[in-house]
Parts: sequence; C-alpha cells; structure tokens
Amino acid sequence: MHLRRFSGHVEVHTPAKINLFLEVLGKRPDGYHELETLIAAVSAYDTLIFEPRSTPDIELDCRWGCGLAASERAAGRIGPAARELLYGEIPTGRENLVWRAAALLREKAGLEQGAVIRLVKRIPAAAGLGGASSDAAATLMAANEAWRLRWPRDRLMELASELGSDIPFFLASGAAVCRGRGERIEKTPASRLPITIVRPPVGLSTPKVYKGCSTNPAPKGVQQLAVALRGGNTTAVSREMANDLQPAAAQLTPWINTLRDEFSRQDFVGHQMSGSGSSYFGVCRSRRHARRLSARLRARQVGAVLCADTIATR
Ligand code: C5P
Repeated sequence: MHLRRFSGHVEVHTPAKINLFLEVLGKRPDGYHELETLIAAVSAYDTLIFEPRSTPDIELDCRWGCGLAASERAAGRIGPAARELLYGEIPTGRENLVWRAAALLREKAGLEQGAVIRLVKRIPAAAGLGGASSDAAATLMAANEAWRLRWPRDRLMELASELGSDIPFFLASGAAVCRGRGERIEKTPASRLPITIVRPPVGLSTPKVYKGCSTNPAPKGVQQLAVALRGGNTTAVSREMANDLQPAAAQLTPWINTLRDEFSRQDFVGHQMSGSGSSYFGVCRSRRHARRLSARLRARQVGAVLCADTIATR
C-alpha cells in the first residue's frame, strides 16, 4: 500500500491479493471457518482519495478506472454491460466497506469531522482478489492520516478485523500466513511471482462459497509453500498450492472448471482459484511468459485478464 499526503487530501494506492494456499481446518462456533492461508499482495491497484471535511457527512464516489483495456475490448463482443459483467458491481454509499470503515473509525475516535472519499476501482469485484477489503484497509490508513489521529497500527488492526477477515492482511500487506478466520497475520518473506489472473463474467458471494465448503480431513500445512515462496521456486510453489474453497465454488458456477480447463491447456507452472473465487490465476516462469499467456487467454474471451506480479517482501 502506498500512501501520499497532499495539502488537502491523502491518496492511497492499495493492491489486490491472491491466495496461494488456503486450507479449511474446521467450522467454528461463531459460524466462521478456521483457516490456514497464505496471501500475497498483487500489483493491481485501486486508488482511494480521502479529503477530510469539517462537516460530519461521509460522501463516497466510486467508479471503475478508465483504461481497463481487457474489458473495453471485450465490451464489443459481450455487449454494453460488459464492464459490470467482467469486473462486477460496486456498491456505492453505506453498504460499501469503505464507507463503513470511515464511519467506524470516526465513531471510535469520537470525531465530529467527515470526509469526501473518491475511489477508483481497477480490482475486479466478487472475485476473491480482496478488492473491497483492500479499499477498507486503505480507508483506515488514509483517515488515520487525514484526520490526524495518529493511531498505532495495532489499534487499526483491531478495527480492521471487526470489519472483515481479510482486512488486517492489507494493513500489513506483502505476503503473510493468515490463521483463525484470516485475521491473525504472520508476515512471511516472498519473492516476486509473475502471474495471470482471469475474472470470469460472474462473481461469487463469499458466504455462499463458505457455506458449501468442507473441512480438509488431512491438511498438509503451509510450511513447504512458504519455503518455496521465500526462495522464488515457482515449480515448488505450484506443487504446494491448494485451495479448499475451489470445489464449493465450482458447485456454484461452471466457470471455475471452464477456467481450470483453459489454464490446463496453457503451459502455466501451476494454477488454481483465488480465495472464494470467482477469479482464477496461473503462475508463470517470467513476465514475458505471463504476457504471452495473458494474451492467449484474452483471445479465448474467458473474462477480464490481468497480467501482474505478486509483490516481493523481505
Ligand atoms: O469476514 P468477512 O466479512 O469477509 O466474511 C464474509 C463471510 O465469509 C462470513 O460471513 C462467513 O460466511 C464467511 N467466512 C467464513 N470463514 C472465514 C471467513 C469468512 O465462513 N474464515
């Protein structure tokens, strides 16, 4: 996450994520699932501009970034609603996590101030790429700065986990093993991996996917993957990848198996669904390789295609 302070506003560029590993270890009494997951931040960014106001209202303007080349090109083929179809719908107003994050921080800090927040979205929605969670984490960071609260990271982390299971990850960013319902973060060193992501023309609802998932009877654990990722061994990373939510997602839409088959026909080092879907990613040998495979998948018209990297962390 990159944060810059200007005279009248704070601007944050906040990344997407993929889950290189996700095992479901059990169902908890609170209805959530106990997880072990390895999440890596990815070089596809939303931009959030936070302008503090002396009046108490929080206004949110949310739009898709221009230059979403893949969706624009596909628009001619799929029809006028293509961008919403490929990238998903974004809630504006109070049901958006951004609004809720700003309102919660304002309430806990006992502030009278408000803000105008502009969000430019490039991360596809309902995709398992953490877009909404990333935007909420960016809001907490931006508001803390713009409202001059000076809350330490730990205190923001508590609010983040109250708002959603993936949000603490984005405050830490980089790569991390996340446990509990996803909110217990342990940062892990990671090399850059070139990847191709496809978000098919349907999104998936996270609660619905979790509802259909099963507990893994013999979890292999994240350790081998973490070692491979640290060393940048793409073959070993691909061998150790896992996602226990993929069968449940495949029950909800045929797109998951369609993408699996499409990715199998290309020479990815490894591939799987990200998070609770619906997006699917493949690990490549180099950026050049990722660009080549991205172009091939774009030609297959299977959805919005992003060519990106996981972000290296020490
Ligand atoms: O925490 P968050 O609001 O992102 O979770 C959305 C939904 O996903 C939860 O209401 C729950 O149904 C499901 N979930 C789960 N186990 C997790 C994380 C999320 O069952 N570890």
